[in-house]
Amino acid sequence: MSDNLTISSGEDTFDLAITDGTIKATDLKQVATSDGPLATYDPGFMNTAACKSSITYIDGDAGILEYRGYPIEQLAEQATHLEVAYLLLNGELPNAEELAGWEREVNTHRFVHENVAQIVESFRYDAHPMAKLMAGVASMQTFYPSARQIEDPESQRRNIVRLIGKMPTLAAWSYRHSIGRHRVYPNDELGYVDNFLAMLFQSQQRVYRPDPRVSRAMEVLFILHADHEQNCSTTAVRTVASAGNDVYTSAGAGVGALFGPAHGGANEAVLKMLREIGSVDRIGEFIDGVKNGKAKLMGFGHRVYKNYDPRARVIKKATDEVFEVTGRNPLLDIAVELERIALEDEYFVKRRLYPNVDFYSGLIYEALKFPPEMFTVLFAVPRTAGWCAQWLEGVTDAEQKIMRPKQVYTGHRERAVVPIDQR
Ligand code: CMC
Repeated sequence: MSDNLTISSGEDTFDLAITDGTIKATDLKQVATSDGPLATYDPGFMNTAACKSSITYIDGDAGILEYRGYPIEQLAEQATHLEVAYLLLNGELPNAEELAGWEREVNTHRFVHENVAQIVESFRYDAHPMAKLMAGVASMQTFYPSARQIEDPESQRRNIVRLIGKMPTLAAWSYRHSIGRHRVYPNDELGYVDNFLAMLFQSQQRVYRPDPRVSRAMEVLFILHADHEQNCSTTAVRTVASAGNDVYTSAGAGVGALFGPAHGGANEAVLKMLREIGSVDRIGEFIDGVKNGKAKLMGFGHRVYKNYDPRARVIKKATDEVFEVTGRNPLLDIAVELERIALEDEYFVKRRLYPNVDFYSGLIYEALKFPPEMFTVLFAVPRTAGWCAQWLEGVTDAEQKIMRPKQVYTGHRERAVVPIDQR
């Protein structure tokens, strides 16, 4: 739909075309102000579209999430992570033959160069695995220099497949290094998720075979985390890519952004919060503290969702299946009661704060015996599919330019430098 926005400024009026619910920010430049051409001020990009995308659709008010038009609930129910990765990258679900070929291709790229392992293992034993992962991912560009040919479709594809294939290996080795265990190499007999679990948990000679319910729950968690349109880490990936960078360098920036507690680090923070609350009878006191600005209710609130995050709903269901295998995580009682109280409390209702994807995922990860530092890593591995799809869309979009926002300058102007002995 096309429409117009009319702006009056003094004697002048300007007609700005509205396309896809947006005006072109550069069209505002024709409006003169005493501070120069008119621009928008939008810290945190609260209402600014920086790209066109056909990968993921979110309706935050209605709580809808779709990958390439397919509802997340159906994908979580019926697909595998690699099927979803194929969908994100190619725009369509694969048929059986295409899927088999794709799985074969990704799985042959699971081995990581020994020198990359040395980079990961050169960190101190107690370094956060996200820091090791970030370094490992960014270093891969040096092993595959042809990845810098970002306009070559063959190079784009080959390096995306490599990154998706190697990410679980890097993530698992970052973890094994933290716990002082030897690294476990990829096993050709295992699928993407089971092989990842084996590389994490296998001990000595025994071949690790996860309980199928655990394996399916991980698959579902991977699907739910595969993409989420222009979130902070994806924006980091696209920003770094816009300067002409390869997929490894760009994804390395994505890992860094995801590390933050307001983004992928939130599930780790949720567990910490639940443990600090300690028991159901202390929830009221904690909620009062949140309302007085002493703390945030981690795992609640979202920039886009002003409704229940559809991913949180699927995860809440998956907790039951996992707890059947692992036994119930006692922190679940605190989480469920915390959610119930918050959803009825005027503070949260008024601000439309609902549980997000991170509220329940940490409980599952903990039940599966992952240490909290690994939670964000478990987000980064599946999100790699989304980063790759978004990277590809960005570098092949003729309308994309190097990302370079404006600023509102509030500092001094035109001062003379005073010699140091007179300051
Ligand atoms: N607990 C208490 N108050 C909150 C929370 C929260 N979790 N989230 C937002 N608010 C309040 C905030 O203080 C503000 O209140 P007021 O209008 O009185 O100043 C209002 O709600 C609007 O919040 P905002 O900070 O302007 O919203 P935002 O869109 O900038 O931030 C957010 C979104 C996700 C960073 C924020 O909700 C938050 O920090 N949540 C906790 C961390 C978290 O769970 N992050 C995971 C996000 S989902 C995973 C992902 O996709 O990355």
